[in-house]
Amino acid sequence: MLGLLGWVSLLFEPLAFDIPPIEPQPRLRAENQQVIPAQGRFEDIITGDYGHPPVLRIHDRQGVVKWSWERSDVAQDLPPRIRSGLYSNANDATDMKWMRGGTSVAAIYSNLIVVINHTPDRPSLDKKITFALSRDSPMLWNAHTLEPLPGDRLAVGTTGQRPWDGIQVYNISTANPLVDEPPILQTIEGLRAIHALIWDEQGQMLWAAGTDAAADGSDPVPAYGVIQGYPFDAATGLLREDQAYRFRFPHYYDIDTEWGHGYSWWSGPHDLVPVPNERVFLVSNDIGLHAFDIPTMQFTAAYEEVIDKYMPGFECTTNDRHGINRQGKYEELPQSDLKGFSLAPDGSFLYVQSLWQLFRGNHTSLVVDGVRHEIRQGDEIYRSRFFADIDGWPKPKT
Ligand SMILES: *[C@@H]1O[C@H](CO)[C@@H](O)[C@H](O)[C@H]1NC(C)=O
Ligand SMILES: *[C@@H]1O[C@H](CO)[C@@H](O)[C@H](O)[C@H]1NC(C)=O
Repeated sequence: MLGLLGWVSLLFEPLAFDIPPIEPQPRLRAENQQVIPAQGRFEDIITGDYGHPPVLRIHDRQGVVKWSWERSDVAQDLPPRIRSGLYSNANDATDMKWMRGGTSVAAIYSNLIVVINHTPDRPSLDKKITFALSRDSPMLWNAHTLEPLPGDRLAVGTTGQRPWDGIQVYNISTANPLVDEPPILQTIEGLRAIHALIWDEQGQMLWAAGTDAAADGSDPVPAYGVIQGYPFDAATGLLREDQAYRFRFPHYYDIDTEWGHGYSWWSGPHDLVPVPNERVFLVSNDIGLHAFDIPTMQFTAAYEEVIDKYMPGFECTTNDRHGINRQGKYEELPQSDLKGFSLAPDGSFLYVQSLWQLFRGNHTSLVVDGVRHEIRQGDEIYRSRFFADIDGWPKPKT
């Protein structure tokens, strides 16, 4: 067992493993003045492969796998609920986040929420689970996303449809032993169907994307997409609810075009993605893309405007994304169902678009210099992300 001091030194040591340099990309945007990282931090991509068992893989832009994690990699003793969550039939590899300088990965894997070591240069520690939480509970069974917070905390979106759904915060200190029921530090209710969480270091806030009513149509009103910021109080270590940071999308949308006439679900947000070095994030939902500007706290662009400004070279991944909407009109939805996407500071970006009328995609699209490439890391992929700290949007340091 590595003591606390050992862990602390691990967090502050430079990463010892080699990452091959990437070719510099031309700037795609005039305002994009930052230097391309010489060490090629945005060469590494993490992808979740749904399956039995699910697999997390870190691979390069060509798809060459450098590191992977699945349950057969786990040799340590686990408490019974954690063990059964790891070996459950759940095929999920729903989200995965770079953290602790790249020496840990937070992920939703099978029926667990886990934090695991990514220390290929230290094989004795590599791939160990340092925090685990079972999803076999009424609150967490559908949890879709997670994000590190300051002070060794982890926020988990419950992704349920009821008024008491929202966010739970856990202590992920590596000094704590793995237990069946890790204590909850904080519960925040009132945001349904949370599919994305992102820490905003500059604003000291956790942002979440969800819906204001049940996304599955079980409430008597339509559900609007909502993004909400929760200021973090460093003194108390608690997130604060403030309606001033709750922003509803201008419209609600049915999703009949994709799923058929009278389908009960409403369009909900899928991913909430920062634009590197800008105070802007992009939100995807079942229909398309929106941009949100933090200084003015407003939605500033939608659909093609978002592509033109932030994701030039985006292409619809299949030619079948069209149908008849609730008003009986033919409609094309080329930007629909971006379940996960990620922007690099050099202008390249990646995305996973689920196949039309399915919940997952079968590849990751990577756009470099405006040209799309496909990376195949499994037949059922929900999310890929650059495995790096995002410039202007650093993860919490502690
Ligand atoms: C988290 O756990 C560590 C180790 O037990 C402890 O030192 C720390 O105070 C805990 N943090 C919170 C916020 O409870
Ligand atoms: C991925 O899905 C597309 C669209 O259905 C299909 O054309 C393609 O063959 C699939 N690829 C793989 C590798 O399954």
